[in-house]
Amino acid sequence: MNSKIDALAESIYSKGFEVSEAFFSGQEVDALLSVFQKNEDLFKEAGIGKNKEYTRIKDIRSDKILWLNKGTDEIIDEVFFYRIETLSVALNRRCFLGLNSSEFHFAKYEPGTFYKRHKDIFNSDDARKISAIIYLNKNWKESDGGELVIYTEEKNITVEPKAGTLVLFESSIEHEVRISTANRYSITGWLKSVKGLVT
Ligand code: OGA
Ligand code: MN
Repeated sequence: MNSKIDALAESIYSKGFEVSEAFFSGQEVDALLSVFQKNEDLFKEAGIGKNKEYTRIKDIRSDKILWLNKGTDEIIDEVFFYRIETLSVALNRRCFLGLNSSEFHFAKYEPGTFYKRHKDIFNSDDARKISAIIYLNKNWKESDGGELVIYTEEKNITVEPKAGTLVLFESSIEHEVRISTANRYSITGWLKSVKGLVT
């Protein structure tokens, strides 16, 4: 029983999103950043859509990404995937989402980059249920911009991408990343329910 994680699951059940500051400690952020920085030259320009829909459109999003796989880096497995799996279990228990898979990538928004208002589910595939973002930006200032705006039915939620903050929201909710004037680092991904997957 982990009360912080259970509280997050309760929020997702009742309102469909949650922002949890200091979900990762300063030390954990440092560990994740060290892997991020070690691999920075492998990052590629991100695209939009899936398979045939996939395009790269600089006017819509301009971040660079690197997909993360379990089993390739010990730090990522221990600090990140372990916590994410605990979270998935709690979400399944409270929200009956049938989560059985996930995908995550590092994302880097360089100064002048953004991701316009969009949803994270594809026209051809609704496996993504929950979007999760963890920010890795120490000393982030309001003037750096780069806020995430989540357009819920009642109001717009604005989140500053500060180190250690975890954001969760239903992947059907529209959101955007405002233009950033500093380097903006995160791990972004999706908790999925893939049909026919035996676990
Ligand atoms: C995304 C996204 C939000 C963020 O990568 O799909 O919406 O705050 N990211 O980085
Ligand atoms: Mn998104």
